Formats: sequence, structure tokens, C-alpha cells
Amino acid sequence: MGDKKVPQKVILAYFSGTGCTKEVCDCFEEKLRKKGIDCKKINIAKSKHFDIGEADTLMLFSPVYAFRLTSITEHWVKNLPVVNNKSAIIISVSGGGEISPNTACRNYCKRQLKKKGYDVIYEKMLVMPSNFAVSAKEDLNISLLRVLPYKVEKIILDIIAGKKNLTSPKIQDKMLSIIGKGEHFGARFFGASIRASQECNKCGLCVRACPKKNIRMEKGLPKFGFRCMWCLKCIYDCPRKALSPRILKFTVLNSGFELSKMKQKLYHESGRTENRYNRDVLWQGAIDYIREDEY
Ligand SMILES: Cc1cc2nc3c(=O)[nH]c(=O)nc-3n(C[C@H](O)[C@H](O)[C@H](O)COP(=O)(O)O)c2cc1C
Repeated sequence: MGDKKVPQKVILAYFSGTGCTKEVCDCFEEKLRKKGIDCKKINIAKSKHFDIGEADTLMLFSPVYAFRLTSITEHWVKNLPVVNNKSAIIISVSGGGEISPNTACRNYCKRQLKKKGYDVIYEKMLVMPSNFAVSAKEDLNISLLRVLPYKVEKIILDIIAGKKNLTSPKIQDKMLSIIGKGEHFGARFFGASIRASQECNKCGLCVRACPKKNIRMEKGLPKFGFRCMWCLKCIYDCPRKALSPRILKFTVLNSGFELSKMKQKLYHESGRTENRYNRDVLWQGAIDYIREDEY
């Protein structure tokens, strides 16, 4: 069981575009602290030069984009300094769940972490509401938020017990995740095509919020460069809904994406435990995830 693998001091490193991965990371932080485990949380977008220092375990949290972890996460991991005798845990967060071809999403970062001297002891997919192209029904999204604390508790108990969880994706999923790297390139053009409509009140929120510093104010209007990573934060967070892309418009949910509203809904429905959503082929991964444990 290797007692030295039980984490004592943990760095929680996350990237989050629209808040779901941060929500997952916050939940881990709260529960780890309650168990007396020392935690420090860092935002990958704001921490270029990272050193794990005294901590024994690095927990990496990242959304899944095009069957991989986000480009900013992969870049950050690739630039980590080499370490000795440290553990790593990877938590991926997706809308679709641990289904094909998502299953290979952690592969690149797993390989890089091993190269840097980390012993990857645990990997897991958590499912959160999808912010991309097609939205799941509201009930399913609320249920995903409701089960999150139970899922996190289970993972923490596994880790404390020294249980390992390592997956081996199918070859076709590995191939598709290689093709998914094309998204890193496409993102640049998607971002550069975003324009502000007349609704824009020049508040500059998008400029400040962009994790890639890809937006600048020019003659009082936001202008978008070629560094976009497609996180959609600027579009969904704009208070006037003034931003939209000229290409690949279908990737942006017409209804917008506000995690805080979903959390409010969950709070008001906290007494209700039954799930009202039906069978849905598109969201089968998320439905199976909710049903795999009894809550
Ligand atoms: C550009 C982009 C690509 C995505 N690709 C996938 C994908 O391949 N598989 C999946 O299950 N979800 C995908 N998603 C959905 C996100 O993984 C999911 O909504 C996640 O909860 C977002 O996390 P965040 O709120 O921390 O940014 C994608 C989202 C974006 C913006």
C-alpha cells in the first residue's frame, strides 16, 4: 500500500474557463482540509513559474477540450521543473464523461508528469455541465452539481487508503486525442473572429478576465488577438452579451452558461433527491456517472 504515497501536503493546481473545474477544485480543497491535509490552491493561468517546494503531491485539475486537457494545462505541465519522489493526481472535468474518445484526455499530461519525475498515482474524470455546443437538460446539470461532493469524498477516501486508479485508454481514443490537438490551432482563429456588438458598454471585463491576455481595448472597443484557447469565458461572462464569434458559432450555447445560476437552483431544490431526466443517448456518459453510485 506504500504509506509514503498518502498525501500530507498537497498543491491543487487548476485551470477553469467557465468555473466548473474551479468548483471541483474548491470541493477537493474543502474536504482535504477537513481531513487535516495541508492544501494550497493555485490558478495555472496566473502561475507560470511553479515550484512544488515542500509539498508531496501535485493535484492537477483541468477541463477537457477536444478529448485532451486544455492547451494551457498541457503547456504548464510541459514546463514544470523536474522533481524527486513526488506524487501526482490528475482530475479531468468534462461535459460528456469518461466515454470514448474522452478516455485518453489525460494521456499527454500523464506522460509529461512521469517525465518530470512524478509518480502518477490516481486519475479520474469528473462530469460537470457542458459549456460547449450542446447543453444538457437543466435537471441533468443540477444532478451533476448535486453528486459532486459525494464523488469527491469517494476519491479522497481512495487516495487516503492508498488506492491507485490508473486507466488505459483504447488505441482509437489515443488517436482521436492526437487529432484533438488541432483544437489548439483552431482556437486561435475562433478567438480572433470574436467581435463586440453595439451592446458593448466598454466595461473592460473581458480584457481583465481573459486567461490568455488575448483581449485589448482599442479605440474603446475590445479587440481579439490570436492567442485564444477557446475557453468561452469572455463570451459567457459579458454582462451585455455583446460578444460573438464570426466562425464556429454553433460552439457557443445560445442560452449562455452561468454556473452560479445552476448552483442557486441546486440550493433551492436541496430537498429534492430524485432525478427527473430521461434516457438521452447524447448525455449517456453523464447519466451513467450520476447513477453509478447511489446517493
Ligand atoms: C473548446 C471546448 C471543447 C470541449 N471539448 C469537450 C470534449 O472533447 N469532451 C467533453 O466531454 N467536454 C468538452 N467540453 C466541455 C467542457 O469540458 C466542460 O463544460 C467543462 O465543465 C468546462 O470546464 P470549465 O467551466 O472549468 O471551463 C469542451 C468545452 C470547450 C469550451
